[in-house]
Amino acid sequence: PCSNGLVAPDCETPKMNPSIEPLSWMLGTWLSEPPGDGIYPTLQPFHYLEEVHITHVGQPMLNFSFNAFHPDTKKPMHRECGFIRLKPDSNKVAFVSAQNTGIVEVEEGEVNGQELCIASHSIARISFAAEPRVEQIMRKFRLNAEGRLEQTVSMATTTQPMTQHLHITYKKV
Ligand code: HEM
Repeated sequence: PCSNGLVAPDCETPKMNPSIEPLSWMLGTWLSEPPGDGIYPTLQPFHYLEEVHITHVGQPMLNFSFNAFHPDTKKPMHRECGFIRLKPDSNKVAFVSAQNTGIVEVEEGEVNGQELCIASHSIARISFAAEPRVEQIMRKFRLNAEGRLEQTVSMATTTQPMTQHLHITYKKV
């Protein structure tokens, strides 16, 4: 398949840049199974489906997109895409994401084995973003013993301290 961004016939499958090896366990197409759990003190608990694409094009970074859907109607919900970079010769990670809700954020943290823990370093938002505004975000990704990817997201808003918002397990497809 053409995965370097060029259209055929110029495409070629790029070799993985060795510097992203510590994050290679995240690569792939992943589908929520079971549906994800959404919670927050201000919200009714909800479920969601999510399709995740984590790829590379030979550069020293991962490219990602997370696309959430309503579990019953299958209507698109939250979407975000961006990049995950590693500081050379370290386990320091930077995560850059643009979200369809009008948030653009940078998170930083560390990868240790098959676990990535990151927290927001800066968050920008559109001027007419809905209230309450998110003030801090923390995420944990890990590959569990069954070879499934898990993501947990916590956030602090203008009305709530740091509290879990999402937990989801994905199966590789
Ligand atoms: C609500 C942030 C990802 C579904 C909210 C709220 C915030 C927020 C600030 C309002 C909370 C309140 O009213 O007190 C975020 C951030 C995310 C994220 C920063 C990613 C880092 C997701 C994902 C889904 C989702 C992946 C999956 C469908 C919802 C729903 C609500 C909500 C259904 C309640 C209704 C609504 O406000 O649209 N989120 N969210 N969120 N979020 Fe998220």
